[in-house]
Amino acid sequence: MESKIKLQDKSFKPFIPYEKITAAIDGVAEKINADYKGSNDVPVLLCILNGSIMFTSELMKRLNFNCELVTMKLSSYRGTSSTGVVREVMGMTGSVEGRKVIIVEDIVDTGNTIVELVNTVKGKGAIDIKVCTMLLKPEVYDKTVKLDYVGMEIPNAFIVGFGLDYNELGRNYKDIYVIDN
Ligand code: IMP
Repeated sequence: MESKIKLQDKSFKPFIPYEKITAAIDGVAEKINADYKGSNDVPVLLCILNGSIMFTSELMKRLNFNCELVTMKLSSYRGTSSTGVVREVMGMTGSVEGRKVIIVEDIVDTGNTIVELVNTVKGKGAIDIKVCTMLLKPEVYDKTVKLDYVGMEIPNAFIVGFGLDYNELGRNYKDIYVIDN
């Protein structure tokens, strides 16, 4: 793990090592496997680009039932804070009509994105929607959407790494770093 990383005008310090992240993903995968065990349905994993690309890849490797992958791209953050407006940058790459869907998110912060996503997926005719997020900032989340699978809860601080970015930078680090004020 780097002792510090610099992305544009901001510095970040170590926060969650890769081993802790993968242990949390092990836990989430175990729960999902238990819930879908013996089911005849083939659920759709809906990976929300770009942030959840690494999480989805690690999670999928651990799932032991048949599933399909659909992606879509949303954007709501500018710099280190949410704009409150969720933009669909790229639509879904496959259909979710009549399907069970597991939304796979990197992080739930205010929850604006997840509310928008659940409505979109419902609108496209999914018959069952579960939400899976690697990280949750419980101090900020103020919505009522049930978060079915949560890898880890973190305080309200801006982080990067393991898919998460600051102005598109920092996604490539396998550990997670927090802003160093
Ligand atoms: P929400 O709509 O406020 O819940 O924010 C969710 C989205 O904002 C996530 O999918 C991320 O793309 C982004 N986001 C939230 N918190 C962070 C953070 O600490 N670092 C990087 N991106 C974040």
